[in-house]
Amino acid sequence: MSKPILLGVNIDHVATVRQARGTVYPDPLAAALLAVDAGADGITMHLREDRRHIQDHDVKRVKEKVALPLNFEMAITEEIVVFAEQLQPPKACLVPEKRTEVTTEGGIDVIGQFARIKAVCERLKNLNCEVSLFIDPDLEQIKMAKQTGAPTIEIHTGAYADATTHEDQALEYQRIVAAAKYAASLGLIVNAGHGLHYENTALIAKIPEINELNIGHAIVARAVMVGFAQAVQEMKKIMIEARRSAYGA
Ligand code: PXP
Repeated sequence: MSKPILLGVNIDHVATVRQARGTVYPDPLAAALLAVDAGADGITMHLREDRRHIQDHDVKRVKEKVALPLNFEMAITEEIVVFAEQLQPPKACLVPEKRTEVTTEGGIDVIGQFARIKAVCERLKNLNCEVSLFIDPDLEQIKMAKQTGAPTIEIHTGAYADATTHEDQALEYQRIVAAAKYAASLGLIVNAGHGLHYENTALIAKIPEINELNIGHAIVARAVMVGFAQAVQEMKKIMIEARRSAYGA
């Protein structure tokens, strides 16, 4: 018997569609409310430094109006940390950020930036914010993540999602399995996400140590075809059935 698996819906790319034309629609808050009604367990938003999709007012409105705890994805730059201190999100996920990247390209380097990350974790902990570190499935990074005092990690599944051969995908999958097991053995809460879609999520959902998957782009893309509520429901069904078939959860 394993724990039920949770779905955090990332609504960034609802804002991407809006920003592409500088309109006021589609509204990320409306998408968040639909996701909640459709069974999402959390809402995630990334306020990037360049504000390419989510804007400051989106984050404030979602935090205020959505019943589920907001997971605020953030870089560890001073400007964004100060924004988070004012926002006081119940959850935050620290991510690396490069202005030129299309999306978050790798996990945060906890080993290389330990002092800064630990200091940001402490500032957020003072707000009663549950902090998560977005990291690659690397045991040394996980060991250092534990030392920061953050209760949660989110394993970057991008290399698994991007693998182009069965062999590479199997290798990346085993790295995630081992990372999840190790992190759980240290007492960390283990989430995962990035690049997950309707075909590659079931395998990840079977990993019993994983608490929550954060999924954005694939759900927004599917929503264009079937609507936001159905897109969320389909993804959640895949996750729950995968976990149930593996462990009877
Ligand atoms: N988790 C984190 C930490 C992310 O940065 C992102 C992308 O914003 C996601 C999950 C969701 O990735 P995707 O949009 O590929 O589902």
